[in-house]
Amino acid sequence: MDRMKRLAILGSTGSVGRQTLEVVQRHPDRCRVVGLAAGSNFDLIAQQVAEFQPTRVAFPRPVPGAERVSMEELASAPDVDLVVVATVGKAGLTATLAAIAAGKPIAMANKEIMVMAGSLVMAAARQHGVTVLPVDSALSAVAQCLAGEGQNVEQIILTCTGTPYSWRAPAALRAVSREELLRQTHGIMGRKLSIDSATLMREGMQVIEARWLFDVPFERISVVVHPENAVRALVRFVDGTVKAVISQPSTRLALQYALSYPERWGLPALPPLDLTALGPVSFEPLDEAKYPCFRLATEAGYRGDTYPAVLNAADEMAVLLFLDQQIGFQEIPRVVEAVLNRHQPVHHPTLEDILQADQWARDFTPQQVPE
Ligand SMILES: NC(=O)c1ccc[n+]([C@@H]2O[C@H](COP(=O)([O-])OP(=O)(O)OC[C@H]3O[C@@H](n4cnc5c(N)ncnc54)[C@H](OP(=O)(O)O)[C@@H]3O)[C@@H](O)[C@H]2O)c1
Repeated sequence: MDRMKRLAILGSTGSVGRQTLEVVQRHPDRCRVVGLAAGSNFDLIAQQVAEFQPTRVAFPRPVPGAERVSMEELASAPDVDLVVVATVGKAGLTATLAAIAAGKPIAMANKEIMVMAGSLVMAAARQHGVTVLPVDSALSAVAQCLAGEGQNVEQIILTCTGTPYSWRAPAALRAVSREELLRQTHGIMGRKLSIDSATLMREGMQVIEARWLFDVPFERISVVVHPENAVRALVRFVDGTVKAVISQPSTRLALQYALSYPERWGLPALPPLDLTALGPVSFEPLDEAKYPCFRLATEAGYRGDTYPAVLNAADEMAVLLFLDQQIGFQEIPRVVEAVLNRHQPVHHPTLEDILQADQWARDFTPQQVPE
């Protein structure tokens, strides 16, 4: 595309939102901002409006310098070429659907939207002929392997580095503290994503995201442990050929690919990968028995209906309970499973059904804490 891409960024004050604005700063001749949306950080969004001069802003109160509109209007405005969905939770879900209905391509960072409502989002995207590109290094790698390949996928293989927290020694797990988990995982991902990385809920949810993003059945999506963390994802095709993407584990890279697609832009801040320094590269099967959260996520994905929405909400609440020291680390899967077991699913759910299931799970999860 030769002309400037005009971006609407939902969640501009968050980690992914701020990284998106850094891409805009690096490539002022290729993209510019026409809309910004955020939830509460007035000082930062006011600064962003002053610096990037969007025409519109979606925020709970007026922000000087831009017209105040709803997030749905912002995402579907006629002058928007691409919508970056970098909100958390269900914030941004209806705006994403509005953008898709208006034919806008989506750079999707928000994992919760894809887990809760991936089937609805992708059905709408197919109906309106809209591209949804993931902002996540493993899922972006799959998208890059699939580019130009049609429907000949045999297996999507996501990689993860594994975690030191296997579930075989409950006594030791009881002692895993919030501080230890947040120290050992990457601070940039935010606390929720850090805990989800330690339980492998993150990988389980990635399987659900991949199912909807790439329209591939669950049986054809697997996760392998790859401790060297060099290969982001692999795709095996029907003729046995395997394509893989090797890159730095960088959200920034995935984000820039989603913004530049179908082109690629330079990213000098990221040092080139030195293949000779990699050493031996290994892949091991993921032992699902060790990671109950991974199993719960993939089971909820298989069951479908409103189960993924309940999984997403129950996990979010269980992580909050853990961070609030009301439950131990090893109790996160127990709490999530108890909520899933009590759920009355709705078949072929509408957006309303999904939002109701989400609310039910949020209300019900705290009741699972032992007195
Ligand atoms: N961070 C990463 O490296 C990374 C990588 C891949 C995917 N993701 C996924 O990307 C999403 C965003 O992650 P993040 O780390 O950027 O999260 P974050 O730092 O917590 O930012 C969330 C953004 O959403 C906005 N927001 C929250 N509630 C809102 C509402 N009701 N209306 C409008 N805006 C609202 C926040 O605005 P205020 O701050 O102004 O309230 C903020 O701008 C998550 O789903 C995450 O799992 C993150």
